[in-house]
Amino acid sequence: MSEKKTGFAYQLYENSAALDAKDASLLEEARKITRIAYAPYSHFHVGAAAQMEDGSVVKGTNQENASYPVGTCAERVLLGVAATLHPEMAIKTMAISYASEQMKSDHPISPCGMCRQALLEFETRVKKPIRLILSGQEGKVIVISTASHLLPFAFTKDELG
Ligand code: THU
Repeated sequence: MSEKKTGFAYQLYENSAALDAKDASLLEEARKITRIAYAPYSHFHVGAAAQMEDGSVVKGTNQENASYPVGTCAERVLLGVAATLHPEMAIKTMAISYASEQMKSDHPISPCGMCRQALLEFETRVKKPIRLILSGQEGKVIVISTASHLLPFAFTKDELG
């Protein structure tokens, strides 16, 4: 038997003003796009903005449904749009934010498990990491160098042979 450890380093910023200009502007786009999220059931509006490898920006918002499980998170909406508009193009950085009708949006959002799996599939598919910027409408910002850090021991297409 041998004991193993897993973990990763990430950057924590006090607020978006501490980011470099490019990252701050991408996060601002994610914060703003929360306004057009369709979240009449959870009242939790999520926005994602991604800088593609060619410099263009792709956005996504959560899209809920009266049949709750049919709803889709902002991150997965964005991944679908990115793969459709720019087939096989890598995403350099994805900023994710939220606005809630019930609580303050002052701490970083964290992608759900299903989105972590989808982000990893995208990274595997284009063979490039997706850098993540996570924040609310204000307050601290977390930067993670690759989405794969969020899903250790992941099930990937390699397992399928
Ligand atoms: N949601 C996202 O869009 N992204 C996340 O990272 C977390 C959760 C959505 C799903 C649902 O529409 C609402 O937020 C509340 O869970």
